[in-house]
Amino acid sequence: MEKIVSLCKRRGFIFQSSEIYGGLNGVWDYGPLGVELKNNLKQYWWKVMVHDRDDVVGLDGAILTHPAVLKASGHVDTFTDPMVDCRTCKARLRADQLAEKNGVRQCPNCGGKDLTEARPFNLMFQTQMGASADPASIAYLRPETAQSIFVQFKNVLDVSRKKLPFGIAQIGKAFRNEINPRNFTFRSREFEQMELEYFCRPEQGMDLLAYWLKERIRFYEEIGISRKRLHVLDVPEKERAFYSKGTFDIEYEFPFGRQELEGVAYRTDYDLQQHIKASGKPLDYFDEETKERFVPHVVEPSAGVDRTVLALICDAYDEDSAPDEKGKMETRIVMRFHPRVAPIKCAIFPLLRNKEALVAKAREVQALLRPHMNVFYDEGGAIGRRYRRQDEIGTPFGVTIDFETLGEKGEELRDTVTLRDRDSMKQERVAIKDLPQLISSKIR
Ligand code: GAP
Repeated sequence: MEKIVSLCKRRGFIFQSSEIYGGLNGVWDYGPLGVELKNNLKQYWWKVMVHDRDDVVGLDGAILTHPAVLKASGHVDTFTDPMVDCRTCKARLRADQLAEKNGVRQCPNCGGKDLTEARPFNLMFQTQMGASADPASIAYLRPETAQSIFVQFKNVLDVSRKKLPFGIAQIGKAFRNEINPRNFTFRSREFEQMELEYFCRPEQGMDLLAYWLKERIRFYEEIGISRKRLHVLDVPEKERAFYSKGTFDIEYEFPFGRQELEGVAYRTDYDLQQHIKASGKPLDYFDEETKERFVPHVVEPSAGVDRTVLALICDAYDEDSAPDEKGKMETRIVMRFHPRVAPIKCAIFPLLRNKEALVAKAREVQALLRPHMNVFYDEGGAIGRRYRRQDEIGTPFGVTIDFETLGEKGEELRDTVTLRDRDSMKQERVAIKDLPQLISSKIR
């Protein structure tokens, strides 16, 4: 994990937020490469979950949330973690994550055993709306994106004219005042979720739970996460929310242990019923064919953007060996991102920076590829070193413009380049005009 955290900072994937002021605990900023990786992940999720389907539409709800919404959902009263204080070092700790020695709970900071009784700590961030600071002006930063989907269910149904089963998808920020943020970005206080609420008839719930679990596993495989590091936990009844008839956690083997990436839960009609009761508004569905009116049930695949980015980074990290400038083997750090999510798809290198014709041709290749993908132009240093820099950030393809490209070694090679594959390090000679199609077909 240390190597990964260090690479993330060194190459501009993830930085500690407010670092120059000592950092803000549990809050992270994504650098130039991190934001590309994250955007590629979110765009692919949106494509698969919304654009490729007839039965899902999108929503972008507000972060600031009316307290009545979160009262009805149960968050105001029960969205808590058990907290204890260490009387010795004053640390605040999550009671359910404490290590025990000989059956006695211990503070992980100072080893102290003098801990208070556990009490519930609400994880929501509260804020004040408007100029007056009275209780009526309280608003919350949403702790999940799901609630705005339930609250807007009727509006979306009316405008989209969808028939059950259909879903509403959303990607956006969520905030939880975690007692102990930890494991890099894994448990943060500000993070993003990708959630789908898939509404259905009650009798379809269990089948759709199985269907969505399969779809979501496929998604992780399609973004390049190795199947052998993915696990499914069938959450036992006593650990599920009381309203859930079935929940699967999709877990990933992080270097710090097996942990949840996504929950796929059959939430019955709990959320819509709660909002019907609290708002007094009808959030039901009329089935034209059977002439029945009822409250839909829902299956919810809920994934974390930041956790998936971290899993992508951990899964991609590899070390092998490659020859240096003099042919001597050296250790190579290579991020084996699937081309679909790689921050930069293709790097473009003129063999020499001081040969005008090579540079001009390389700039031409850059202009040709740019409308199709994120490319990077690099003319600095020996070619081997330039390859190595791209391997370390996971760029799957490298194009080198050399004297053959200029036709200096035979007319048949004019306007051809070498296309290098990051993983095999093999190079093939291809025509410049074929590059957009060739690379595009591998990054979609
Ligand atoms: N609407 C259901 C829901 O929010 P959850 O299991 O609490 O369920 C869903 O959260 C996903 O959001 C988790 O599987 C995880 O990927 C992500 N997530 C939750 N808390 C997080 C945190 N503190 N930091 C980063 N990601 C988090």
